[in-house]
Amino acid sequence: MRTVEWDYERKTLRLIDQRLLPGEFKVATYDDYRQVAEAIWAMVVRGAPAIGAAAAFGLALAAQYSPARDLPALRTDLMDAAETLQEARPTAVNLSWALKRVLKVVQDPALQGSGPDSVERLREAVLTEAQRIADEDVAVNQQMARHGAALMGEGETVIHHCNTGALATVDWGTALGVIRMAHEQGKQPHVLVDETRPRLQGARLTAWELDQYGISYEIISDGAAGYFLQSGQTRRVFVGADRVAANGDVANKIGTYMLALAAYDNEVPFYPVVPTSTIDLSLAHGGLIPIEERDPGEVLSLQVEGERAAPSGARARNPAFDVTPHRLVTAIITEKGLVEPPFEANLSRLAGA
Ligand code: MRU
Repeated sequence: MRTVEWDYERKTLRLIDQRLLPGEFKVATYDDYRQVAEAIWAMVVRGAPAIGAAAAFGLALAAQYSPARDLPALRTDLMDAAETLQEARPTAVNLSWALKRVLKVVQDPALQGSGPDSVERLREAVLTEAQRIADEDVAVNQQMARHGAALMGEGETVIHHCNTGALATVDWGTALGVIRMAHEQGKQPHVLVDETRPRLQGARLTAWELDQYGISYEIISDGAAGYFLQSGQTRRVFVGADRVAANGDVANKIGTYMLALAAYDNEVPFYPVVPTSTIDLSLAHGGLIPIEERDPGEVLSLQVEGERAAPSGARARNPAFDVTPHRLVTAIITEKGLVEPPFEANLSRLAGA
């Protein structure tokens, strides 16, 4: 199944519960958009494109189960629902991008009339747009994967950070999608999987996906990436992104910046794999990207030999993302092709194309 999926029979949203993987594969079902906002915040669903699609279907739920009997009332309900969904996670721009797309349909002046018919038509239009966002995501990912895999030779060892696979998207994946495409093309990649502290999206989710695809991998601690780059054991680095600013600065899972620095210092190409929906030209540079700071408990709960590692009473900080300056980026892989420096000019040209 897809990571984010509408159940047309039951009129519910189905999400793979990523908190439980790899131990348990469980599908959570939602009929209330507030629960979807909660699920995004709690990381039942995570990964920028998957969050965007989940939020869009959240609006479809809001439309479906709103008691509104006329268009103005339904439109008001949907604006309120969008606000709640928007607040779930701040860094990934795909969330607001997807909500804006659906709200454009909601506010379409061509949709007129009164009574139950018009309400029903708006419900359908919202669901159709959410489904379109989900379907496009898969197509876009496969397109990026083809562009990225074309860069790769036979038997390359690459480093991958966090989880950017099918689980982080509706299906297929971004950076992991590139590696998966190279594998399907018979290039036999080997992946060094950053475990990705503190929630271990690499060790838990990326490793689980790679197992299923039959791709060779080894998990490394995040701090080991520098060693593998310096010792010439890595040919490329592929990461995803939660938001790319107009100048090419890239916000992604915490640890990406240090990985990019070590790649740059060792002249190993560093590629964010990014659908154009993740590019935010309204922000001039990465310093303007909101960075989510999560519960310190996620850091402090680490156990070693069954015991909590940190002393009781220890405090922690837990930024979930960091910003990699564009000077460390070799090229950004999008569905429209590779974007190379100078990023400011080339990203704005891409947006216009
Ligand atoms: O906190 P997460 O697990 O949602 O973070 C995910 C990432 O940082 C991914 O690299 C990013 O969302 C792109 S996923 C295709």
